[in-house]
Amino acid sequence: MPVIAPSILAADFANLQADVTLINESAADWFHVDVMDGVFVPNISFGIPVIKAIKKHAQKPLDVHLMIVQPERYLETFKEAGADILTVHLEASTHLHRTIQQIKVLGMKAGVAINPHTSVSLLKDIAVDIDLVCLMSVNPGFGGQKFIENTYSRVSELSALLKTTKSSAKIEIDGGVNLDNAGKLLQTGADVLVAGNFVFSAADPKEVIQRLKALA
Ligand code: DX5
Ligand code: ZN
Repeated sequence: MPVIAPSILAADFANLQADVTLINESAADWFHVDVMDGVFVPNISFGIPVIKAIKKHAQKPLDVHLMIVQPERYLETFKEAGADILTVHLEASTHLHRTIQQIKVLGMKAGVAINPHTSVSLLKDIAVDIDLVCLMSVNPGFGGQKFIENTYSRVSELSALLKTTKSSAKIEIDGGVNLDNAGKLLQTGADVLVAGNFVFSAADPKEVIQRLKALA
């Protein structure tokens, strides 16, 4: 069964507690929490105080996706805010190996995200050290964008790379996920599905989560 991680970016920011409760009561597994700094990506989302507020009510792990430059400056801060899984972008981390080790020393699971144009092969020498690869299936920065079809072949390639390198990292797909592409993504090797707008703009978000969760 897939891990389902609804993205808080698409939640109602004026009533976050209601949407956190909704996820608690749903079949979802994680909270996906997108942090954007307006530098690495052309948008600013929310930061530490908001994550702390979510953590107070969340009964499931926080999967924090950092779309920020120099993420190594804030690892401890995100741990304190409540991150359980901390993902940094390969494109934003000069000393990625060190950053990954530090995330693990702090007691969090470590993830690496890559943009749609970044070669999957660049993960070869870090794969064995990480718990999660976040494959961006849109260009990061905004929710509600169209899924990039080339993602399927990237999932296959990543799946093969993880086998060769004997990595047990999970493959997470982030951006434009819906019921039209989720089944094929899972068949191709994805383990974790992030879904923002598809969940929160649905008439019945819990039902949508249940349907994603029930996919093979
Ligand atoms: C995009 C974010 C995604 C986003 C997904 O930069 O990393 O996590 O919230 O939202 P949807 O599912 O609406 O594309
Ligand atoms: Zn994300």
